[in-house]
Amino acid sequence: MASVVVVGSINLDIVASASRLPTPGAKVTDALLTHHPGGGGANQALAARRLGADVSLMGRVGSDAEADTALALLRENGVDLAGVVEVPDTATGVALIAVAASGENQIVVAPGANLRLMSESLQVPAVDALIGEHLAPRDAVARAIETFDGFTCVTLATASEVDEVVLRHADLIVVNESEAAWYGDSLALQKGLVAKTSGASGAALYRGGEQLARAASPAVKAVDTTGAGDTFTAALTLALVEGQPYAEALSFACAAGAAATQRNGAQPSLPTRDEVERLLKGND
Ligand code: RIB
Repeated sequence: MASVVVVGSINLDIVASASRLPTPGAKVTDALLTHHPGGGGANQALAARRLGADVSLMGRVGSDAEADTALALLRENGVDLAGVVEVPDTATGVALIAVAASGENQIVVAPGANLRLMSESLQVPAVDALIGEHLAPRDAVARAIETFDGFTCVTLATASEVDEVVLRHADLIVVNESEAAWYGDSLALQKGLVAKTSGASGAALYRGGEQLARAASPAVKAVDTTGAGDTFTAALTLALVEGQPYAEALSFACAAGAAATQRNGAQPSLPTRDEVERLLKGND
């Protein structure tokens, strides 16, 4: 079993599922409200766990009731939370998410305790792979990647200045289309792999600007795309650490990402390995 540590954000997702997303200044009034555990790092950790890895998570939550909800599925699924620290007098991160009937979403994050993840307090375990999420404090992710002795992956969502250490040390960088456009040529200059996701159209893998593999996503009825990118990241990292060839690893990650859109909520929708393999074989 591959072992993975994730350094990233932990949120409570407050989700309004509506017929459509509002345009700026407009109202949509037919939503149903639900609360789910979320946060990019927490989603990646649970996704890797459901896909069969031994997983630990490093992050911060507040000293409030939201922390229990945010950590519930990680606990239930056996993710090691020894590296998750409760920060006194601070709120757990919250994401306000609107989801349309098409599965598309809009997200506003109040990071709260996530901003208190400090690089000097991180004791990163010796495992096969580290996934760093760009929404966690940049310095903490950069230091973890710089000092980690194993396969390193970082997601650059959402697009913002990236620490040069990340570009120099990451074995894999994951971006979506708009992030890839924002980072431009800087991604082609880095030594590791770059995976560019294109939603339902699939993904491509590059090194030094040269395309190494491309994969389509299996066609599914998307209900909620929240967490699909996190699932793709966890699946691609695991597949590469397991030694799968680039094209197979990318197909596996696309199928995992697609599978994660079939149910509501970021974490409740994360697929097991069996579900991903069935989707890959066209049996789902
Ligand atoms: O990547 C999806 C996550 O982004 C959601 O779970 C939400 O918490 C936001 O941070």
